Amino acid sequence: MSRVAYVNGRYVPHREAAVHVEDRGYQFADGVYEVVCLQHGEVIDEDPHLDRLEPSLNELRIAMPMNRRAYKHITRELARRNGVKDGIVYTQITRGVARRDHVFPAAGTPPSIVMTSRRIKPQDPKLFDTGVSVMSTPDIRWTRCDIKSVSLLPNILAKQAARESGAYEAWFVDKDGNVTEGGSTNAWIVTKDGELVTRQLSNSILGGITRRSLVKLAADAQIKVVERPFSLEEARGAREAFLTSTTSFVTPITKIDGKPVGTGKPGAVAARLRELYYGYMGSPEPGAA
Ligand code: PDD
Repeated sequence: MSRVAYVNGRYVPHREAAVHVEDRGYQFADGVYEVVCLQHGEVIDEDPHLDRLEPSLNELRIAMPMNRRAYKHITRELARRNGVKDGIVYTQITRGVARRDHVFPAAGTPPSIVMTSRRIKPQDPKLFDTGVSVMSTPDIRWTRCDIKSVSLLPNILAKQAARESGAYEAWFVDKDGNVTEGGSTNAWIVTKDGELVTRQLSNSILGGITRRSLVKLAADAQIKVVERPFSLEEARGAREAFLTSTTSFVTPITKIDGKPVGTGKPGAVAARLRELYYGYMGSPEPGAA
């Protein structure tokens, strides 16, 4: 089955899918994106993702190019045309095409929307035996990290540096020494007292949808969740650490900057939360990007 993308109202062969060279997403990273996960053909947390996409667009004063019903239809149709039951749908919406000029183009310039879908392989069970490592790096991003902007240069550079150092993810650290989040994931620790800690929502982090669901699942399971900042030092001395995202689900962290977290083995709380999250998605062996 050949891949298909959705570009401004048309389903087109993936290899031919393109936007104009003067698309403002291409020239200025003037746009936002979303990534949703599908398991067994079901879109996970679809409305919460839309509840994040719409304010991101509003903040940038870009109009949503269609209503929710149409958007949900295209999400499913695109997954169907690509034979994706377990995978992702990526959406990017930009301010559209206009002669290059920093200020907004004329009112009425239609936004561009591009959507793609692909399968993802089951998550490697080795990750749950060994955990992953993270590398800390100064958070050099702007002060509106709550907007899911396609402007991701600091994230890309941090993740590449992490990868080159053998780490799976980068953890951004603010000027006070507190962890904000990962390059494309939210950051969590389990303290010595068994409290689950993740940074509170603010402009300093992206409000992860996986984070949101996990806060609820943990509360339902009587696991105490505290939303507050934690320092890199506290994380290094924590009992457990883990990361969450739409494509990494709940992944244990066993090393920070080359030093073990807790026992150096994935912890029981992260394993329990992963089980709860898989249960929530209705999938014992979900995919991973
Ligand atoms: N990344 N923080 C950042 C900076 C992110 O880019 C992401 C998601 C998250 C987790 O959000 P969620 O749980 O809604 O996926 C946190 C996506 C998956 C990406 O860029 O591919």
